[in-house]
Amino acid sequence: MRLINLYFLLVAFAISALTNAQQNIRNTSFLPGKVWYDMQGDTINAHGAGFYYEKGVYYWYGEHKSRNSLAEVGVHVYSSKDLLNWKNEGVALEVSKEASSEITRGSVIERPKVVYNEKTGKYVLWFHLELKGKGYEAARTGVAVSDSPVGPFRYLKSYRPNAGVWPQNFNSHQKKTNSKESSYKWWTKKWSEALVDGLYVRRDFEEGQMSRDMTVFVDDDGKAYHIHSSEENQTLHISLLTEDYLDFTDTWVRVQPGGQNEAPAVFKNGDYYYMITSGLTGWDPNSARSFRARSMLGPWQSLGNPSKGKGAEVTFNSQSTYVLPVEDRKDTFIFMADRWNPKNHQDGRYVWLPVIINNEGNPEIKWTDEWNFNEKSYSTENELGGK
Ligand code: GAL
Repeated sequence: MRLINLYFLLVAFAISALTNAQQNIRNTSFLPGKVWYDMQGDTINAHGAGFYYEKGVYYWYGEHKSRNSLAEVGVHVYSSKDLLNWKNEGVALEVSKEASSEITRGSVIERPKVVYNEKTGKYVLWFHLELKGKGYEAARTGVAVSDSPVGPFRYLKSYRPNAGVWPQNFNSHQKKTNSKESSYKWWTKKWSEALVDGLYVRRDFEEGQMSRDMTVFVDDDGKAYHIHSSEENQTLHISLLTEDYLDFTDTWVRVQPGGQNEAPAVFKNGDYYYMITSGLTGWDPNSARSFRARSMLGPWQSLGNPSKGKGAEVTFNSQSTYVLPVEDRKDTFIFMADRWNPKNHQDGRYVWLPVIINNEGNPEIKWTDEWNFNEKSYSTENELGGK
């Protein structure tokens, strides 16, 4: 009897020691693809992430995933001073209990991105929204606001962007409806040509353009752009948002018509805007692509696959979600990506790797098992010299 008691006591002690150890977790390096614990020892649950920085604190917003990919909880937010150790700040945007709400539990809320509007003093959260029970058919973008970076965010509305407005880079011939083209079979030559020429822009002109994978980028002049996969995921659209960042203006362009770009991540370095995207293979990884432009509205020049070395053809088993400029470290950027796990979505992993701009002006990403800012290997100065 006494022995059994002692045994239980020992087990209890071991469990409590373990829990305590977990509670005092201190990460000292990035471990791409490994389970990442927050400061309380829980696994970080924030996928398809976006980041925001203010007064020495980074905020990490992401999809709170359950086993499946539907939104059961909402958008999760964490905060950190060093990008390695993250404090759980709870749910920034909660799914609604109302069945009639567009963000009801069981809808799809993906790729949340938060920006701050200087003029209104509001934090603005944009995300890819799919309506409950409709798969990926709705193709909408949703917007919510808050007075605090950690929320709670109040859901405002969703859009099919740019209804009734032609893109800036469309000619008068492209604006004419062609009644035959809607019957073209997918993947035929005729269909491909019509697609590049704007088939789906014409089809969705009245209702608004499709918006799936997306991001938001705020430029140095305070202008914000919404970048999204449109036209049945075949073409990217870049739209200028209104001054309050809550709506679309009439200014927008098509980028890489028929290029099948998803998962856009935009950053600026020197005089150039850069964009990293993925191809179109659902949860499966594929080769990333990179682009460069002198203006957000293009033209965007294609620079090829930014990943180098082993695993480059599948972006080291991940898909882009964000590129973060690191504060107070000139020309230092982190490529952030998701290693999805469609069998158990909450076990999807985060792949964070340094991005450098090489001497030709192209972004480059290389795999490393472990890294931090103190290592010599992550000195960007030489590669970026002259910028
Ligand atoms: C991916 C996309 C994800 C998610 C998924 C659904 O291509 O990047 O965000 O939408 O498809 O299959």
